[in-house]
Amino acid sequence: MSRESIISGESRRIDEIADESTLASLRPQSFGEYVGQEAVLQKLSITIKAALGRGEPLDHILFHGPPGLGKTTLAHIVSNEMNAGLVCTSGPALERAADLVGILTNLQQGDILFIDEIHRLPRVVEEYLYPAMEDFKIDIVLDPGPHARTVRLDLAEFTIIGATTRAGMITNPLRNRFGLSLHMQFYDPGELAIIIRRSSRILNLEITDEGAETIALRSRGTPRICNRLLKRARDFAQVESKGAITEDVAVAAMDIHGVDEAGLDSLDIKYLSIIIKQYSGGPVGVAAMAATLNEEKDTLIDVVEPYLLISGFLNRTSRGRMTTLKAYRHLGLVKRNGQEELPL
Ligand SMILES: Nc1ncnc2c1ncn2[C@@H]1O[C@H](COP(=O)(O)OP(=O)(O)OP(=O)(O)O)[C@@H](O)[C@H]1O
Ligand SMILES: [Mg+2]
Repeated sequence: MSRESIISGESRRIDEIADESTLASLRPQSFGEYVGQEAVLQKLSITIKAALGRGEPLDHILFHGPPGLGKTTLAHIVSNEMNAGLVCTSGPALERAADLVGILTNLQQGDILFIDEIHRLPRVVEEYLYPAMEDFKIDIVLDPGPHARTVRLDLAEFTIIGATTRAGMITNPLRNRFGLSLHMQFYDPGELAIIIRRSSRILNLEITDEGAETIALRSRGTPRICNRLLKRARDFAQVESKGAITEDVAVAAMDIHGVDEAGLDSLDIKYLSIIIKQYSGGPVGVAAMAATLNEEKDTLIDVVEPYLLISGFLNRTSRGRMTTLKAYRHLGLVKRNGQEELPL
């Protein structure tokens, strides 16, 4: 059964939507096609087999980790593996409790409700989820006012899969209701190279091993980025070199798009150089950085910082963000007395 509805309350940039729709064909459909995240897959497949064996719906699952690492993809795969209906929504789309109640009362036995950006669920809506997740029941208030009555509705047994880039923003009562909480890790370049070769086969592109490895190294550990960069390299190969995506083609394409050999883009570089040049390497708070860069704080926390932290360009301390020696070196600067920087 594939009963799927996408309810999105968010307006997104047109080019992002176009990019995502072509990228959708690259989305793995089964565990077999899904590369990496072994620890997550192992826990998931045991839970799925056990639930199928008992003939019961799956326990509620929370996926957390940076954008583009495959959380939504896994929700689709889990619904395929469970042979369950999938209904998709997102935290910000569920503005009123009635929105959630409408969805919950329409779910059928075993269905999966995928809630993206679950950390942005309004608190009043979230409170309706607690009894729904625990006992498959909801209490709704009829005729609000002096004659208010509460009616308890039974729901079909269903599974919630929540996804979030911010596990820390999920309240304890909600977090505790997930039977499985799975953290997505950044991918290593070898795994990304496998994804790039798989995507190249699907898109009918000729790519050398070196070409794939070059793109993999610049993809910030993220499958969504490696697929995007592959498409930019495809454009370059088609227009400029009229051949396979070789290492040279990949490097030239990445250079045009301002992605350097460590995978850092212009925003990453600006972020690091502002900490170094305006804040003497830190510590500096994220709110100050957002104001200086004229960027959303959430973009810095969700998109920019996780990779800079994991790849050793940035440290997060109790007093704020600090750049590392590796960041100075990457920007061609030297650290002097922790105060000044000079070009090498
Ligand atoms: N393990 C994987 N193997 C192959 N391709 C993958 C894998 N994970 C993700 N992808 C590719 O990356 C794209 C982005 O993945 P997905 O949309 O699932 O990320 P996400 O974690 O939900 O991101 P966001 O937090 O922004 O919603 C997918 O369309 C898919 O093509
Ligand atoms: Mg997603």
